[in-house]
Amino acid sequence: MDLYEYQAKELFARHNVPTQSGDVVTTHTDARASAERIDNMVVVKAQVKVGGRGKAGGVKLAKTPDEARDHAQNILGLDIKGHKVHKLLITEASDIEDEYYVSFLLDRTNRTFLAMASVEGGMEIEDIAVNKPEALARVLVNPLTGVDKAKALEIVTEAKFPADVADQVADVLVTLWDTFVAEDATLVEVNPLVKDPDGKILALDGKVTLDDNAAFRHPDHEALIDIDAEDPLERKAAEKGLNYVKLNGEVGIIGNGAGLVMSTLDVVAYAGDNFGGVKPANFLDIGGGASAQVMADGLDVILNDPDVKAVFVNVFGGITSCDAVANGIVQAIEILEANGPLNKPIVCRLDGNNAEEGRRILAEADQSIVEIVDTMDDAASRVAELAAAAA
Ligand SMILES: Nc1ncnc2c1ncn2[C@@H]1O[C@H](COP(=O)(O)OP(=O)(O)O)[C@@H](O)[C@H]1O
Ligand SMILES: [Mg+2]
Repeated sequence: MDLYEYQAKELFARHNVPTQSGDVVTTHTDARASAERIDNMVVVKAQVKVGGRGKAGGVKLAKTPDEARDHAQNILGLDIKGHKVHKLLITEASDIEDEYYVSFLLDRTNRTFLAMASVEGGMEIEDIAVNKPEALARVLVNPLTGVDKAKALEIVTEAKFPADVADQVADVLVTLWDTFVAEDATLVEVNPLVKDPDGKILALDGKVTLDDNAAFRHPDHEALIDIDAEDPLERKAAEKGLNYVKLNGEVGIIGNGAGLVMSTLDVVAYAGDNFGGVKPANFLDIGGGASAQVMADGLDVILNDPDVKAVFVNVFGGITSCDAVANGIVQAIEILEANGPLNKPIVCRLDGNNAEEGRRILAEADQSIVEIVDTMDDAASRVAELAAAAA
């Protein structure tokens, strides 16, 4: 889960990363009141889960409460790279003498953690990485030893931080690493980390991605979920405990086993090329058991996706044999049809343990929206054809 800047800063504060507090507001009158309370120059900052807000006009300096109100009025409702602004952070403005970049992240390629740091912060780090890679230090971090002061100083040296801030930045890196580990993040990023005219180091921006797989260890993280900003289908699937990811095609996919579902996505995308480029609409792995209720929950999520034109149920019978899954499919459709007729075609391919019996059960049930196809390739082609015809 990605966090908003204000949430990232809350976590920073918990672990002593120096940052300013502020107020989160949703109206321009509250923005004005906040600026009045802070009683100093403030920045009005759009809270959206995307970078480059500054360039997009989502970060504005205000000298007076009235100015803060006017900026708030302009920024609320603004569309920043497809993200509509509903919330603002009003925070004290800092005098900036220098802007740096620091982050810790999970480096999947190198199967370890990675520290990145640059004395050229402020602008988008992707640009530095591409146009001036020598200005971005990358230091691998051993997960077993982590980042103590010595390791932090190594990162600071590698990034060539000036001597007058090196020690302070190293201290900040240690607290940032504490945040990364204690909160089970896969990314903590500060851009810019600034030096003010008094030589004080401060995190002016914060980006944190939490590892959802560690959510069970952090009951307090649930409060960070922004229900309104979530994809409604993904939320519904999560509530039902389904392993679902929304994609942007037209063919709904259900399979048992993550590997099978992944290859189903490939096969459907490949087959879709012959039918005007239709693509998978989602990933959904209903796992081993595949009871009627789980199948019904999965079908319910997928059939309610307005992008879905046809569904591919791809099952390989193993411990749960195909006849059990076939019964699950038949009952799932009955459950859903109790709420009204279904009209999107469902192509089923059953293979593996007891496949013949499974197909017989489906054929016998004779449900009008179900079509049985014997092989995965033929099924992918058929479902792509049906999706294209309905599009
Ligand atoms: N509290 C602040 N005081 C002064 N300037 C700020 C403050 N917060 C942000 N800025 C300026 O605005 C720029 C963009 O803000 P930032 O929070 O980094 O958003 P984004 O990275 O989405 O553009 C920063 O690089 C900094 O120059
Ligand atoms: Mg930034």
